[in-house]
Amino acid sequence: MFTQLVATISLALFCAGSPVVVVRDNNIKLPISRSFNITGGKTLPEIDRARAQTLVSRATTSTSKSKLAKAAASSYGTSITNIATIYTVAVDVGTPPTTYNLIVDTGSSNTWVGADKTNNPWKVTNSSIDTGEAVFVQYGSGLFIGEEYLDTVSFGDITLYNQSVGGSDLALGFSGIDGIFGIGPVDLTEGTTDSGDAVPTVIDNAKTAGLIQSKQVGVYFQPTTEDSSTNGELTFGSSDSTKYNGTLNAVPLTTTSPASRYFGVDQTVSYGDQKILNSTAGIVDTGTTLLLLASDAFDAYKAATGAVLDTTTGLLNITSTQYEKLESLYLELGGVSYELTPNAQTWPRSLNTVIGGTEDAIYLIIADIGTDSGSGFDFINGYTFLERYYTVYDSDANTVSFAETAYTFATSN
Ligand SMILES: *[C@@H]1O[C@H](CO)[C@@H](O)[C@H](O)[C@H]1NC(C)=O
Ligand SMILES: *[C@@H]1O[C@H](CO)[C@@H](O)[C@H](O)[C@H]1NC(C)=O
Ligand SMILES: *[C@@H]1O[C@H](CO)[C@@H](O)[C@H](O)[C@H]1NC(C)=O
Ligand SMILES: *[C@@H]1O[C@H](CO)[C@@H](O)[C@H](O)[C@H]1NC(C)=O
Ligand SMILES: *[C@@H]1O[C@H](CO)[C@@H](O)[C@H](O)[C@H]1NC(C)=O
Ligand SMILES: *[C@@H]1O[C@H](CO)[C@@H](O)[C@H](O)[C@H]1NC(C)=O
Repeated sequence: MFTQLVATISLALFCAGSPVVVVRDNNIKLPISRSFNITGGKTLPEIDRARAQTLVSRATTSTSKSKLAKAAASSYGTSITNIATIYTVAVDVGTPPTTYNLIVDTGSSNTWVGADKTNNPWKVTNSSIDTGEAVFVQYGSGLFIGEEYLDTVSFGDITLYNQSVGGSDLALGFSGIDGIFGIGPVDLTEGTTDSGDAVPTVIDNAKTAGLIQSKQVGVYFQPTTEDSSTNGELTFGSSDSTKYNGTLNAVPLTTTSPASRYFGVDQTVSYGDQKILNSTAGIVDTGTTLLLLASDAFDAYKAATGAVLDTTTGLLNITSTQYEKLESLYLELGGVSYELTPNAQTWPRSLNTVIGGTEDAIYLIIADIGTDSGSGFDFINGYTFLERYYTVYDSDANTVSFAETAYTFATSN
């Protein structure tokens, strides 16, 4: 019966056609707070690689109902680490509302709460409708299993009624966080619940409700050298032109699988004038910290820079003499070259010790994705790229757009 309810609602949303939409606010903004927590004995590149592997396997396998339970059971045995760099937004759920701090994730699309069962558990309130369906999502850092509800969800100036939201029964790898705010493509929700059907995301419903004109999310991160600060902004329905310079370059989503399941694009990478990655597919992702490159491209970068792999942090490191000779890295997207200056290629020194490194060492933010190029998932432009360029994720136009910010060429690290 509850399954049918969900089906009816999603059908109603789907058949809405072109409603007359009154847009209340075309530029709904939400501050993003960043915190940094690397515990659990894994290095930063290991955490990012684990995420890359999960994203690839999630895109290439379909989860059936029986697999949900199996996956949850088998993951119990595997070691779980926390997500390293965490960007959270405050989201209210229920009537009366509970505020949850949720990770902003463009690489997944389910929104769920209650990871911290002790301090901020999922609460059934007057507006919570149990769909009767179990929900399960696996992340590089852990997993979540729970019950799918329809409930009132508010963030920024947006209030959504009967929004799908997961109430967590079990969440592993999320200490200090309440859950995930999944703003990736809706197709990623397929197979996460018993019915297997897609679950409309917060972005889908905001558009259906006429609160935003198009399914766009603008993401702005300012480089930070502190381990915790409010330094970003999410914009719904449009981009925030006060946060970038020049025009946005809209790059069509790639057709190459598995990157095509995500906000995937085609990109060419050059170190100085040496091409190290021919045009190939990968993703832009708020849930990854570093800039991951296919192993062959990473090896070429390592050789060209003369960097060595530091086993403690898992990052490449260079001497100050090598830093002086470091050339820019150029990422070509949609015919435009995006430069990462030598400073942009380094890890913030003030955070060296936070990742287990030596105070005055120079670590690089380019890491190995773990597979050679040609896999259809050859790079991830993570946070260290996103703090230099403004991005807009558009699931109506099927593009990711890029623009320079005041920090693109900043010497902040
Ligand atoms: C909802 O439930 C709470 C108790 O949790 C109650 O106090 C309140 O009056 C109810 N109604 C609304 C609209 O919040
Ligand atoms: C949510 O959906 C239920 C069931 O369809 C409906 O009764 C209720 O009025 C809806 N709530 C809101 C706030 O639209
Ligand atoms: C960091 O992670 C540990 C567990 O690994 C947790 O106990 C701690 O609360 C976390 N810190 C923050 C600030 O989230
Ligand atoms: C890129 O493609 C060209 C032409 O096929 C080839 O010669 C070159 O080696 C490739 N470069 C890399 C870095 O793969
Ligand atoms: C960094 O690289 C240099 C040599 O290139 C090496 O001597 C040093 O031990 C490395 N590690 C750190 C943490 O600086
Ligand atoms: C635009 O560029 C100028 C000069 O490079 C810089 O001062 C300014 O802060 C930038 N503005 C934004 C919003 O990026």
